[in-house]
Amino acid sequence: MLITKNIELVRRERWADPGQTWGFVPTMGALHEGHLSLVRCARAENSRVAASIYVNPTQFAPTEDLDAYPRQLERDLELLRAEGVDLVFTPSDTEMYPPGFQTYVSVENVTRVLEGASRPTHFRGVATVVAKLFNIVQPTRAYFGQKDAQQTVVIRQMVRDLNFPVDVIVCPIVREPDGLAMSSRNQYLHGETRTAATVLYRALMAVQSAFEHGERNAETLRALMRDTIAAEKLARLDYVSVANPDTLQELDTIADSALCSLAVFFGKTRLIDNIILEESE
Ligand code: PAF
Repeated sequence: MLITKNIELVRRERWADPGQTWGFVPTMGALHEGHLSLVRCARAENSRVAASIYVNPTQFAPTEDLDAYPRQLERDLELLRAEGVDLVFTPSDTEMYPPGFQTYVSVENVTRVLEGASRPTHFRGVATVVAKLFNIVQPTRAYFGQKDAQQTVVIRQMVRDLNFPVDVIVCPIVREPDGLAMSSRNQYLHGETRTAATVLYRALMAVQSAFEHGERNAETLRALMRDTIAAEKLARLDYVSVANPDTLQELDTIADSALCSLAVFFGKTRLIDNIILEESE
């Protein structure tokens, strides 16, 4: 496994044999089963696999957890090696944002709602770093988790709008046995807060059950999520949403599918989760 901070070396390795297909898993490290499931998909569908580990400062607001974000490079590299990854790109901040850097990718409508409303500069940072990583690694396919549902919509939109020659593949959420979606930020949760954090999944399951029993009114489903969160005293709701999965606009009535998502604070830790509701064939 080649581990490098060097952009030229990544490109050289990528094009050493142009006949190979490359799957790429961009990460911010602190790897868990969710990331490893992306690596396994990439491994199954490509002849080579690249990953990146980079805690991207431009997607954190000054008030957010950039400094506290978990960093465990040696452990992450071991996990990637065990999955048979061929190349890991671990750039420094000056490699990614050298002095004089001044070009950003700004995706418009789909970044204004949900996570973007609560974190107004977040997706500009994500789109910019992902565009750079795509240009550096030049993968055949890139793998993202459904857990960050809006991020997948933003990246698909950017790839379409800017004609990146990359297939974006979205893989299912991986959950703990009690339903909590895997996240590097789960490391901030302990004791009764960790137990309380299952309320996101419980709220989504309540919505799914109501949908399966015929409920199609989006506001009723949003209210169900709000009520479930309100019943958990350690949780503070940021938002709930029942939206069109492509445009992310809030729905009145669910016609064929909906992205149900929510963000909840536990102290300073903010968790997100989602499910897609779909009419069965
Ligand atoms: O999902 C993440 O971990 C990050 O947003 C990403 C895609 C690696 C960009 O920094």
